[in-house]
Amino acid sequence: MAQLFSPLTLRSLTARNRIFVAPMCTYTATDGHVNDWHLVHYGALATGGAGLIVAEATAVVPEGRISPHDAGLWSDAHVAEWQRVTRFVAAEGAIPAIQLAHAGRKASTAPAWQGGKPLTPDDGGWQTLGPSPLPFGAYPTPREMTLGEIDAVVDAFAAATHRARAAGFQCVEVHAAHGYLLHQFLSPLSNQRTDAYGGSQENRFRLPLRVAQAVRAAFPQELPVFVRISATDWKDGGWDLQGSIALCRELKALGIDLIDVSSGALVHDAKIPAGPGFQVPFAAAIRAEAEIPTGAVGFITAPAQAEQILVTGQADVVFLARELLRDPRWPLRAARVLGHEWAWPRQYVRGKL
Ligand SMILES: Cc1cc2nc3c(=O)[nH]c(=O)nc-3n(C[C@H](O)[C@H](O)[C@H](O)COP(=O)(O)O)c2cc1C
Repeated sequence: MAQLFSPLTLRSLTARNRIFVAPMCTYTATDGHVNDWHLVHYGALATGGAGLIVAEATAVVPEGRISPHDAGLWSDAHVAEWQRVTRFVAAEGAIPAIQLAHAGRKASTAPAWQGGKPLTPDDGGWQTLGPSPLPFGAYPTPREMTLGEIDAVVDAFAAATHRARAAGFQCVEVHAAHGYLLHQFLSPLSNQRTDAYGGSQENRFRLPLRVAQAVRAAFPQELPVFVRISATDWKDGGWDLQGSIALCRELKALGIDLIDVSSGALVHDAKIPAGPGFQVPFAAAIRAEAEIPTGAVGFITAPAQAEQILVTGQADVVFLARELLRDPRWPLRAARVLGHEWAWPRQYVRGKL
């Protein structure tokens, strides 16, 4: 059997295959509320055959949104709309997961298709927060978070996790990658605090570990929790693979089930050698050295390429993003390419390749 189509058990759940949908913002929510777009978008990915779908970065507090149109779970009022999505996704055999996020100093920007630039207060923008008053490139300078605000972020992640469960999600992914708030605390390039949250590695780990612990405690023990990290800043003096391995060892000890291994996006001027599978070695190193399951992501587009990552033991699952925007039914096609007999949704059987 193709490794890509071998089921994977995560606590009490079994994913039907190892093709996971990477989280992708769609900037289509209103005041955090998702709508028919999300039902159809995630529904197509579920009928397309993915094993698990990580819904887009969803803000745990309004000021943690990347844009005013991000999805949210900072209020109980957001739960019912997500329930429609999770009900359909689960009914089609995919595991509904959600990425919980706080954008920190990279919040308050326009959606990508409007240029993604920081918003002024007149455009609906807001004061951003971060570990230190250090801006991302030419973005506005964030305000340094107080200890009380740090505690409140931990509580907000926990509360959003309870809501995610109420909304029917069976897996939560903590967003600690791509230069957003938790990554900002990890990297010495964005965190120059002199209190218990900055300086030493132990101190820079403190907030991400507190959040991971709070999320793990807030989610049922029989259901899995993932963490997405950037394995490196691709910048001298920044966050790197050795730090990532040390962090992942601690995340494993807290009961985190899988690390979704991405990279970059903390600084605007990093030189990133992006190309097919360029982040896979990070997933492999973390899997081997921290002894925790990993997911590989980034420029994975071909079934044989995905299969090779798994067969060579570099990762336990693959996360695909853009290729699934191009073709949400990629898993169905991949089954055929790899010679794996795979049941199509019965409504589509007449189109089976
Ligand atoms: C439209 C779009 C939205 C994205 N939004 C998120 C997000 O919400 N959270 C996240 O961690 N990564 C996000 N990403 C990054 C993807 O999850 C993925 O890591 C990246 O696109 C590389 O994978 P790919 O080459 O398969 O596209 C986004 C990517 C795209 C293309």
